[in-house]
Amino acid sequence: MFSFAPTPGQSKADLHADLLGAARALTDGEPDGIANMANIAALIWQFLPDLNWAGFYRMVDGALVLGPFVGKPACIRIAMGQGVCGAAAQSGQTQLVPDVHAFPGHIACDDASRSELVVPVLRDGVVIAVIDLDSPSPARFDDDDARGIEALAAGIAARI
Ligand code: SME
Repeated sequence: MFSFAPTPGQSKADLHADLLGAARALTDGEPDGIANMANIAALIWQFLPDLNWAGFYRMVDGALVLGPFVGKPACIRIAMGQGVCGAAAQSGQTQLVPDVHAFPGHIACDDASRSELVVPVLRDGVVIAVIDLDSPSPARFDDDDARGIEALAAGIAARI
């Protein structure tokens, strides 16, 4: 049994630091990337409040393919440049979207989603995956969340 859990009342910075620490600890020494992505998605879901989807899309032959996640079933393949995930993968830049309905080309996998944060995972300067977080609340994510998930992406890039 694993007993990682957020501490009630902690600051957002501490929450993200603890999430990163839990992800590092849980994936330490495990070479299977799918298993690691599955546990990291579960940790994100456990640590971060107000999400309706959390998981990975992996770069496979030049397109994004659905990876381990928590949430409703989602679209399986996303072309480079398509949607928020494709924009993150193509640009290599974090996409912080306070209102998904205002994002041109947003792909609606879950009608409940109102805001989204997508962070590319880079290994040796190449995008190998993206971490996608959806929330039913508008403007759920801020710069602290973006920096936190970027640190998570950097911390697990060699393990997925
Ligand atoms: N909304 C994403 C698609 C993936 S789902 O949110 C899980 C996008 O526009 O790329």
